[in-house]
Amino acid sequence: MIRQAIIPLAGLGTRLLPLTSVFPKELLPINGKPGIEYILDECLDSGIKEIIFIISKKKEMIRKYFYNDKLFKDVIKKKNDKRIIHEYKKILRYRKFVKFVYQNEPKGTGDAVLKTKNYIKDKYFLMLLPDDLITNINCSKEMIKISKNKNSSVIASMKVKKKDVTRWGILSKKKKINKNNFFINNIIEKPSVNEAPSNYAVIGRYILSKDIFKILKYQKKGKGGEIHITDAIKNLINKDKKFIAHVFKGKYLDCGSMSGFIKSGIEIFKS
Ligand code: G1P
Repeated sequence: MIRQAIIPLAGLGTRLLPLTSVFPKELLPINGKPGIEYILDECLDSGIKEIIFIISKKKEMIRKYFYNDKLFKDVIKKKNDKRIIHEYKKILRYRKFVKFVYQNEPKGTGDAVLKTKNYIKDKYFLMLLPDDLITNINCSKEMIKISKNKNSSVIASMKVKKKDVTRWGILSKKKKINKNNFFINNIIEKPSVNEAPSNYAVIGRYILSKDIFKILKYQKKGKGGEIHITDAIKNLINKDKKFIAHVFKGKYLDCGSMSGFIKSGIEIFKS
């Protein structure tokens, strides 16, 4: 059973400056709804019971967003606005599931995952990167089914253009399972076009096993001086641990870059 999800939220969001100079990117509205709520809805709809936010002191505003009761209560008392009551109830519901841990230095996704080590209870857990929205399908739900069925870790993947491989983690096929799933034999963080073992990109949904913590404890810095989850996964693959790539069917929206962020709002509005 996969009951816990973790969401790294301590990143600085520099790709979205100036929007992120005082405001956490995950609270920026995408078609009138904070980005993080799309991610929370995906988790809750896939049966997740606990969601661990990895934030930093600089991003306390995210915690505040879920604990601003006095404001809501005062406003609701003054004007009995149905919409605001509905929004407040939604926040109270999210709050029941959310827990916070801290990563005060942005040392990379691998380091963020390591911060959750003492909280993970089961063999497998889900990780979602909030920059990546996937619509039209619940990708996490699909991946949970696959993980259960094959007793394996799973990573969401999408084919990208060969010239764009340098922007992503890239993984390659060992053995086909069926049309949309295959076992992985290699993964490289942001390779050059020549280094890339394929053009299957890693998209921000991962089902990881607790084994990853043992590796992360000793994981050295990689590309750009950061501790990457990609490198820890590669180490586990080298130790013969199973990883499946799931080529999801939904629509991918990249909210981590300015043009992608703008397009995401338009796409969701149109859908
Ligand atoms: C991270 C991962 C990368 C993955 C990407 C998906 O990169 O390190 O492997 O392909 O998310 O969005 P980032 O977007 O943080 O640069």
